[in-house]
Amino acid sequence: MSKKLFIETLGCAMNVRDSEHMIAELSAREGYELTDNAKEADLILINTCSVREKPVHKLFSELGGFNKIKKEGAKIGVCGCTASHLGKEIIKKAPYVNFVLGARNVSKIGEVIHRDKAVEIDIDFDESQFAFKDFRSSPYKAYINISIGCDKQCTFCIVPKTRGDEISIPADLIVAETRKAAESGAKEVFLLGQNVNNYGRRFSGEHEKINFTELLRRVSAVEGIERIRFTSPHPLHMDDEFIEEFARNPKICKSMHMPLQSGSTEILKAMKRGYGKEWFLNRAAKLREMVPDVSISTDIIVAFPGESDQDYEDTLDVMRQVRFEQIFSFKYSPRPLTEAEKMTDTVDPEIASERLSRLQAYQDTILDEITATYRGREFDVYFEELRSDGYAAGRTDNNITVKVKGSEELLGTIRRVKITEVSRLVQYGEIVA
Ligand code: 5AD
Ligand code: SF4
Repeated sequence: MSKKLFIETLGCAMNVRDSEHMIAELSAREGYELTDNAKEADLILINTCSVREKPVHKLFSELGGFNKIKKEGAKIGVCGCTASHLGKEIIKKAPYVNFVLGARNVSKIGEVIHRDKAVEIDIDFDESQFAFKDFRSSPYKAYINISIGCDKQCTFCIVPKTRGDEISIPADLIVAETRKAAESGAKEVFLLGQNVNNYGRRFSGEHEKINFTELLRRVSAVEGIERIRFTSPHPLHMDDEFIEEFARNPKICKSMHMPLQSGSTEILKAMKRGYGKEWFLNRAAKLREMVPDVSISTDIIVAFPGESDQDYEDTLDVMRQVRFEQIFSFKYSPRPLTEAEKMTDTVDPEIASERLSRLQAYQDTILDEITATYRGREFDVYFEELRSDGYAAGRTDNNITVKVKGSEELLGTIRRVKITEVSRLVQYGEIVA
């Protein structure tokens, strides 16, 4: 009988890809098979996120839960960013944990499962050219890493401490992965990195140095690939060449994530983001002008230390001017190992909560106006998923989620859909061609 693997993935798309890599290694080299029932698993993995405090708190109660229900002899491993950050403390606090594997040590998974109490969290470890075995959770969309780590020093962010310095993956490996994905039937690739448009600054070893714009051109030349997405670009590196390629290249999906963080130039300075309000507005305006149908999403942190009413109003002002199609918004959460953790001018938690809910309510009014304009329009939708309610779901080029009544035969196809019913999260439609 084969051994069974249960894996829970928290956090960002990079974690999703790291989990796929671990599944690939464990099934190809160790004979594991995936299960969605932790009770029958021989190995339980949690791939963690440490970007905010809440999920880190939850980790230990979750681990306790897994320890209670696991079958006899089953192992538990903690992977990902919280593993990098807490290291052996995890085993101290939860002694039944068998190993800890950091976010930059994914390729060691096949080895650590055999070493009880192993803690592998070296953030200088270089696995930028490791040849992982193949596993993809979706046959329609292929996640492809283009870099590891992060070379920014945003003062609120723990990631450079959990994923280490940025190293780009050589372009020929990325193109080869893209080809493989296309050959196995994926029409869409999703390029991943902490700052994708900073690609190409540093490789390990001698490699051709090309920038992200050139990488996009090469990936889009791969036959069979019809859609290219990427996350996350950094507003600072959105130069004209990049925006022009984004606008001009028909394979690049017209949806851009532009993590604003704050609309106040002062706060952006304190965050060490490298740009101010005007630069951000200028880049967003150029995008809107060159790509009329573009959808722009963003991340916003409210109540960063020192954020005054006026700073907060600047954030709302950027929202008013850019009219984001999607916002991920968070209350500032002090993180260990960061510069901002030491800042003393913190914002009162009640004010922070009020700011967050007012911002979200404002975004809802903007979104209702935006989605109302979708009604009656036609979009090309790439169907990727069946929902339990008799609907198939997919995305438009500009990242609108659309559901239509339908079944398997839609999956993996791009169809013309007319939107008949709109809502904030999902639009409903009918296939017209
Ligand atoms: N507090 C709140 N939000 C944070 N993010 C990163 N660090 C923090 C923090 N300390 C948010 C940022 C980032 C997203 C992935 O998480 O908005 O873009
Ligand atoms: Fe991803 Fe950042 Fe969370 Fe790590 S801390 S999983 S990089 S979002």
